[in-house]
Amino acid sequence: MSLMAMIKGRSGPSGFGYASTAEDVTAGLDLAGKTILVTGVTSGLGRETARVLAKRGAHVIGTGRSADTARETLESFGTHTTAVACELSEPASVRQAAAEIGGTGRALDAVIFNAGIMALPKLQQKHGYELQFLTNHMGHFMLMQGIMDVLAPDARVVVVSSTAHTGAPRGGIQFDNLSGERGYGAWRAYGQAKIANLLFAKELARRFEGTGRTANSLHPGVIITNLGRHMNPVMKFGFGVASVVMCKTVEQGAATECYLAVHPGAARINGEYFDDCNISRPRADGTDADTARRLWEVSEEIAARFP
Ligand SMILES: NC(=O)c1ccc[n+]([C@@H]2O[C@H](COP(=O)([O-])OP(=O)(O)OC[C@H]3O[C@@H](n4cnc5c(N)ncnc54)[C@H](OP(=O)(O)O)[C@@H]3O)[C@@H](O)[C@H]2O)c1
Repeated sequence: MSLMAMIKGRSGPSGFGYASTAEDVTAGLDLAGKTILVTGVTSGLGRETARVLAKRGAHVIGTGRSADTARETLESFGTHTTAVACELSEPASVRQAAAEIGGTGRALDAVIFNAGIMALPKLQQKHGYELQFLTNHMGHFMLMQGIMDVLAPDARVVVVSSTAHTGAPRGGIQFDNLSGERGYGAWRAYGQAKIANLLFAKELARRFEGTGRTANSLHPGVIITNLGRHMNPVMKFGFGVASVVMCKTVEQGAATECYLAVHPGAARINGEYFDDCNISRPRADGTDADTARRLWEVSEEIAARFP
């Protein structure tokens, strides 16, 4: 048996592993009565996650850049769902989304911060911030601020990070370069945004200690989705070749976020980083409590300054 085949066939302590799908990790679960918020349901992993959670009976509140695109996806599931517009790079849209979610009157049993963009080839800024940091981290941070009061007592918050967090600058976050103006690299900026996801989950978990709530982050695997839309042709080709041996399907890629959101085995796990549905170890500075606290405080300051 090849090494890759061995890795793909292996399960960890959770009973699941590389090859498990979102349907596998939720098999037999009745999620009727649960409400789960998923960001970025219009494509890739978010779409599959929302589909499977809805199939198991959850009421899925799904976000898209527009309510129409989110609705189109959610309606294709044929279950009762709620579509919400949330353009993560627009603070006003994020605040409006939080208000709409609160307005449903539903307590959130799980929240999956899934949406994201990757490796923009050239520096793009909005509101003075580098766009991946703004979209992937700040958008979700602000959404969290807006829905904190509607979390169920035992809510689980799941933040989709990436193994690409290892490409972040030394120390994790360049607090003096959140605009990208003092140096920009496509993968470094994506890495920084993804280590921010990790640190955000870590600090949220610390704040949840002693409550019934949990927060964890994860790497979903490597999966061909629309996420690669900004990659240049050479990168796309390399990715395509690599995918023959190392890529997961979208169904497998959605497994870890679904596992963390609803599987009983993850109910009491707080502040961990997951890969292949099992606890894994991120880069050391991705668990640094001081950096996590600082990122939280800086994010609060940034959010407060947005119009
Ligand atoms: N695929 C992988 O190999 C891989 C590996 C590691 C981590 N991840 C992470 O997994 C998550 C899901 O990625 P994916 O592979 O499923 O990518 P995808 O197919 O491109 O889906 C990304 C989702 O995020 C939404 N989105 C993007 N920018 C947004 C914005 N400004 N405001 C609101 N929503 C926005 C997209 O909406 P539109 O459809 O409107 O663009 C889409 O619904 C991301 O956080 C990504 O970093 C993926």
